Amino acid sequence: MKTWFITGISRGLGRALAEAALARGDTVIGTVREVAPDLAIGTGVLHVLTLDVADPAAVRRTVAEAFELAARIDVLVNNAGYGLLGAIEEADDEAVDRLLNVNLLAPFRVIRAALPALRAQGAGHILNVTSIAGRAPMAGSGMYAAAKGAVEMMSESLAQEIAPFGLKVTAIAPGGFRTDFLSDHSVRRSRQADVYAASVGTILGHFDEVAGRQTGDPAKAATAILKLVDAPEPPLHLLLGSDALRRARVKLDAVIEEIARWEDVTRSTDFGETLS
Ligand SMILES: NC(=O)c1ccc[n+]([C@@H]2O[C@H](COP(=O)([O-])OP(=O)(O)OC[C@H]3O[C@@H](n4cnc5c(N)ncnc54)[C@H](OP(=O)(O)O)[C@@H]3O)[C@@H](O)[C@H]2O)c1
Repeated sequence: MKTWFITGISRGLGRALAEAALARGDTVIGTVREVAPDLAIGTGVLHVLTLDVADPAAVRRTVAEAFELAARIDVLVNNAGYGLLGAIEEADDEAVDRLLNVNLLAPFRVIRAALPALRAQGAGHILNVTSIAGRAPMAGSGMYAAAKGAVEMMSESLAQEIAPFGLKVTAIAPGGFRTDFLSDHSVRRSRQADVYAASVGTILGHFDEVAGRQTGDPAKAATAILKLVDAPEPPLHLLLGSDALRRARVKLDAVIEEIARWEDVTRSTDFGETLS
C-alpha cells in the first residue's frame, strides 16, 4: 500500500491515477484548484488539498501539509499542467510566464519542498508528467515543448543527484490522451497569425480534429503508472501511447543520423593534443 501526492486530481490523467490508486487501497493526497472531485474511493483513503501550483508559497505550504497528513509519501506526482498553442512569435510574455510557472517551475518547487522529507525517508519515487512534445516537438506548441523538455532534462539530473538517498525519478511523456487537455477549459491559445497558416495552422487544425478522439485512454495510463511504481527497477523515462512511441523513434533516428552526418565538423574543433 502506497501513499501518493498528486497535483491536479480534478480532471484528466491526475483524476484517473488517483482513482486507480484508491481502488487498490492506496492513500492519495491530491490537489485541486477549486472543487474537490467526486472520486470513487474504493478501499483507499483520500485527502484533498487546495493548491494553485502557480503560487510558490502555496506549494511550500501544501507540500508541508501533505507530509503532516501522511507519515511518509511513497510517490510524488507532478501532474498539473496545461498547453499553450500557437507560433512562438505570437506568444506574449504573460502567457509564457504563466506557462513556465505552472509546467516547469511548479514541479521544481514541489520537488524542492518535498526533498528534505523524502531524503529522510530514504525511499520514494518522483513522477514528472511531461509530454511527447518535450521530446519530439512539433510546430505550434514550442513554449509548451520547452517547458516539458526542461522537466525531462531536470528529471535526468535529479535522478543522479538523489539516487544515493534511495530516491527514484521517472519522467512520463504521454502522447495524446482523451482528457480535457485540448479543450478550451484547459488549453490556452496565442493569437493566430496568417503568416503561420501553413506550419502552425496545419498542426493546430489537426489538434482540433483529434480533440476528444485522442488514442490514449487515461484509465490505461493510470494502470501503466501503477505498474511503473511497483517495478523494482523503474525506468528514468516512460513514453505512454503508440503515438508517443512513433514520434520518439522518428526523432531519435533523425538525431542519430544528423550527429553522424556532421561528425567530422563536430570532431574538428578539438585542439588535437593527446592527453597523457
Ligand atoms: N492529455 C494529453 O494529451 C497530454 C499529453 C501530454 C502531456 N499531458 C500532460 O498531462 C498532465 C495532465 O493533463 P490532462 O491531460 O489530464 O489535462 P486536463 O484534463 O486539462 O487536466 C489538467 C489538470 O491540471 C490541473 N491544473 C492546471 N493548471 C493548474 C494550476 N495552475 N494549479 C493546479 N492545477 C492545475 C487542472 O486543474 P483544474 O481543474 O483546476 O484546471 C487539472 O486537474 C499535464 O501536465 C499535461 O501537460 C497531457
